[in-house]
Amino acid sequence: MTHSARRPLIAGNWKMHNSLAESVALARAVADVRIGPRTDVVVAPVFTALSAVAQALVGTPVGLAGQDLHWEPKGAFTGAISAPMLKDVGCSHVIIGHSERRQYFGETDESVRNKTLAALRSGLTPIVCVGETLAEREGGITFEVIGRQLDAVLNACESSEIAAMVIAYEPVWAIGTGRTAKSSDAQLAHAFLRDRARHKHAEAADRTRVLYGGSVKADNAAELLAQPDIDGALVGGASLDAETFGRIIRAAG
Ligand code: 13P
Repeated sequence: MTHSARRPLIAGNWKMHNSLAESVALARAVADVRIGPRTDVVVAPVFTALSAVAQALVGTPVGLAGQDLHWEPKGAFTGAISAPMLKDVGCSHVIIGHSERRQYFGETDESVRNKTLAALRSGLTPIVCVGETLAEREGGITFEVIGRQLDAVLNACESSEIAAMVIAYEPVWAIGTGRTAKSSDAQLAHAFLRDRARHKHAEAADRTRVLYGGSVKADNAAELLAQPDIDGALVGGASLDAETFGRIIRAAG
């Protein structure tokens, strides 16, 4: 399957930003963007805004994502939210293993695997994040790190699950820094990740979408999205402004 056969996905990770009213207003503005017929768009507000944003997006092509989940469906896990709860509030996607969760909240390869399986088996599309730190890149172990992070998930998945999941390559040094990976470097990492998936299930890996994240902006999106193994973007800061996010969406086609 070629690049153009995979539907691009543009995901806005709003992180810990926006009040309820601001979230709803931003969601409405994103829904007003002229979205190409072959492009998927999702936004990931804070948990407290999911319900209101879900209402605001009814009847629009914009999907809803959680920013994290717990792998158990329910139970004594104070502060956690499960896959069925995200489905219940209207989510179609969920971000898993973001580097901020790995760095600040003790997320491990094992918890990322458990969360990914829970999402898939509840019918949510997981957006599984992998990426190396600056020290790891400078130490020449980028592929070792992202290969290990991805294998932890792939080793537990069926081929249909590999085809259904979304992978996001987010080099940690490019997140929130304004320092984007060169499109050629990003392409190398994406091709490596797809190849890693191909080793598990050749056909499935052709269908897996691999997003790039890390300082994606309106003026660098088109070049990144033109790379053969970059199937979309996971956007942080630039997704908080509908006009800018709209330009990134349009860069996808
Ligand atoms: P920025 O786009 O702000 O660099 O954030 C990227 C990111 O972490 C998306 O998940």
